[in-house]
Amino acid sequence: MAETTELADLAREAAGCTRCALAAGRTQVVFGTGDPEADLLLVGEAPGRDEDLCGEPFVGRSGKLLDRLLAEELGVDRRRCYIANVVKCRPPGNRDPRPAEVAACRPYLAAQIDLIRPAVVVTLGNFASRLLLQTDQGITRLRGTSYPFGDARLVPTFHPAAALRSGGEVVAQMRADLVRAKHLLGWSSEPEAGAVGPVEGGG
Ligand code: URA
Repeated sequence: MAETTELADLAREAAGCTRCALAAGRTQVVFGTGDPEADLLLVGEAPGRDEDLCGEPFVGRSGKLLDRLLAEELGVDRRRCYIANVVKCRPPGNRDPRPAEVAACRPYLAAQIDLIRPAVVVTLGNFASRLLLQTDQGITRLRGTSYPFGDARLVPTFHPAAALRSGGEVVAQMRADLVRAKHLLGWSSEPEAGAVGPVEGGG
């Protein structure tokens, strides 16, 4: 299938990428994994140590929580989704990606979105949410609704690492955001709780 081939070609190109200084410190590029034709795309921040070693996004503790929430709230495992990060190489010491690194890597994420053409994009945490919504607002303000995103809808939620740090309430809000994504995907047979209310967020 054309998209699959193009995504694989892009992954091969990214594997040799030297567009920013992160190339020097990585074990491998963590391009993204999952169904190249997925309706649901999840976007995190950057690979950590486990991901750098394994070559797959969200395989550490955050990933275990993400897998659990996907199973419990959406009834899917990661193979039915596509999971990628804003930045494809591990920042040293797990520091935040720098603006130049985000800018250098951005074309890969843009191409992934164009090729996968998801119906719903779930952004995990401040980095992905701010980048894709082109805003300075924080995730606490942004989450709780969905936004138009090209032909798709974008649902911002917390990063699973924040949920691991903060626990109960943040996990509950992540669950609610994933249920919102489920409704937008048409995967839910139940009416959305609180569906009669303010119109979902604008651009
Ligand atoms: N955190 C992220 O944002 N992405 C990963 O792949 C792992 C941890």
